[in-house]
Amino acid sequence: MTIKQIFSEYFPKLKHKSLSPFLDIEIILSKTLNKPKEYLYEYSEKKLLTKQLTFFKKLFSRRLKGEPIAYILGYKEFYNLNFKVNKNVLIPRPETEVLVDKVIKYCQEKIPNSQFQIPIIDIGTGSGCIIISLAKNIKNAKFFATEISVNALKVAKQNAKLNNVKINFLKGNLLEPITNYKLLITNYIIVANLPYLTTKEVNNPILKYEPKVALDGGQGGLKYFYELFDQIEKFAIEPKAIFLEIGYNQAARIKKIVKKVLPEYKFEVKKDLSGFDRVLKITK
Ligand SMILES: C[S@@+](CC[C@H](N)C(=O)[O-])C[C@H]1O[C@@H](n2cnc3c(N)ncnc32)[C@H](O)[C@@H]1O
Repeated sequence: MTIKQIFSEYFPKLKHKSLSPFLDIEIILSKTLNKPKEYLYEYSEKKLLTKQLTFFKKLFSRRLKGEPIAYILGYKEFYNLNFKVNKNVLIPRPETEVLVDKVIKYCQEKIPNSQFQIPIIDIGTGSGCIIISLAKNIKNAKFFATEISVNALKVAKQNAKLNNVKINFLKGNLLEPITNYKLLITNYIIVANLPYLTTKEVNNPILKYEPKVALDGGQGGLKYFYELFDQIEKFAIEPKAIFLEIGYNQAARIKKIVKKVLPEYKFEVKKDLSGFDRVLKITK
């Protein structure tokens, strides 16, 4: 079967199962042949070898069942960097790039170019996409990340190596591992994309391949925000700034949770490219 014939035979099968059937086939074929997309058009009459066709069919059937293309490829691009992904980590989302942008901008404006390296802590690091992107773009900081899932931590560590940055990865519940780490408790930046979907939203079939622990924020979606600010209160932590990724309808409720613990802090809500509230910036 030629490349051209693959497109005409497999496109109709995927048409109603994917929002981007053509692109998916392009990507799977490029992966199968280990060639860039342009090759598919330049050599559209080229026949696939039997073992290539078998490999293509295997990947295609995974996509047909609804598995995200990032898991099939085993990587995802985020903030112009490549990240290994597997079923143990959330696939990095473009909306999260807004969070990374805001933290970088804040550091450029507010962190003086001094000898002191401000600690930046990413909570619930997953693939490590946030903290690694920050480490690539911020010079005068030290980077820490916590994560409850051992398997996710493995992926994050591989990604740090892949992208050539040094991150201190710590296993544990939210901020707990940090408090054992003898850091200053008043002068650091917290960044987090916590699970914030409601349990009902997590049952959306489109999310069935991703880990529940990365998505499920409990009945109202805010379980981890309550717990994080309980910890901030319990450990008497006064961060310089906190950046949280939030759900489109959560800003007001999260502000309430924060105000109880950090009444003097200021808030700013940032929107994503679709115009939805996406990042809550909390500063002293
Ligand atoms: C929404 S995902 C974000 C992953 C990654 N930071 C990103 O933006 O793609 C939330 C992450 O928090 C982790 N997590 C869940 N509960 C946690 C807890 N109690 N303490 C630390 N991490 C937790 C999950 O395993 C998951 O990796």
